Amino acid sequence: MEYKDIISRIKSVRDYKEDTVSPEVLEQLKDYFEKGKRLLNDIQIEVILKNKDEVYDNLKNIAGYNDLMIEAPHYLIFLSEDKEHYIENIGYTVQNVMLKAFESGVGSCWITIKDGDAIKEKLDIKTDKKLSALIALGYDDNKNKVLYENISEYNPSHAEVEIVEDNVSERMRVRDLVYLNKWGEDVNPDELARLGLLEAFFYARLAPSTKNRQPWRFIYDNGTVVLTLRKDENVNEYEQKVDTGIVMLYFKFIVDSTLFNLEWKFGKPEKDYEIPSDYEIVAYCIS
Ligand SMILES: Cc1cc2nc3c(=O)[nH]c(=O)nc-3n(C[C@H](O)[C@H](O)[C@H](O)COP(=O)(O)O)c2cc1C
Repeated sequence: MEYKDIISRIKSVRDYKEDTVSPEVLEQLKDYFEKGKRLLNDIQIEVILKNKDEVYDNLKNIAGYNDLMIEAPHYLIFLSEDKEHYIENIGYTVQNVMLKAFESGVGSCWITIKDGDAIKEKLDIKTDKKLSALIALGYDDNKNKVLYENISEYNPSHAEVEIVEDNVSERMRVRDLVYLNKWGEDVNPDELARLGLLEAFFYARLAPSTKNRQPWRFIYDNGTVVLTLRKDENVNEYEQKVDTGIVMLYFKFIVDSTLFNLEWKFGKPEKDYEIPSDYEIVAYCIS
């Protein structure tokens, strides 16, 4: 897959054509999921494909931002074993499937969930696994989109859901997201380029996140990349962990394609980075 190209172009699709996706393409996606990369290989995940008539009416008012369910011809439902970091693993795995779908011309969108068990009951899914992701899938109707635009002052009230003319959601600049050596210390992009990491940060910042909050900040410290995440009110733990898994995927894919095979570690490095209380260190890697 041409990750850089796809990451640059993918966007959330919230209005779908009625046309269904061909069974061959859906099968290819399932196959890609089965063979696809995971953040943690010892966690079993399965996927179920369901169509609009099985899902949409049943999940109205129980899934999506402000319980606003997205109408789509298909849905992918991911079920995971309940093990440590299974939600980050889901963010990573599912976003990878969404990149593949985009490559095949199929649009998608995350639909946030508060209560996976309630969704399992509504959809009559019987399994011990956790219902851990719900994705809308289909062909983009290219209509106006519901979009969270305000990225500086996050306020999760209904008023923030806007209909906008185009669906190019904004992203922050690399220099606003990456610090050098310690929290708050500006980094010169030339320095990141010299280290071979500018591209990885450039593409990582394009990661989708809940309400487009872009909650990640990185510290580059002498070979260690520390990933921190902002804890926002009204963004639940599930959403934060999915956001974490997605940005880990984007950063790793780009580093892997340009430099070497990167391994994220969950938790904090030994050094105390004195990060502010509304952020937490979630993972780090050695570059
Ligand atoms: C964990 C997660 C949950 C999301 N839930 C919803 C949702 O319920 N409804 C929706 O319209 N978009 C949802 N999104 C999509 C984000 O709003 C979108 O990715 C972000 O605004 C950036 O826009 P883009 O994907 O078009 O670049 C979700 C994204 C993530 C990562």
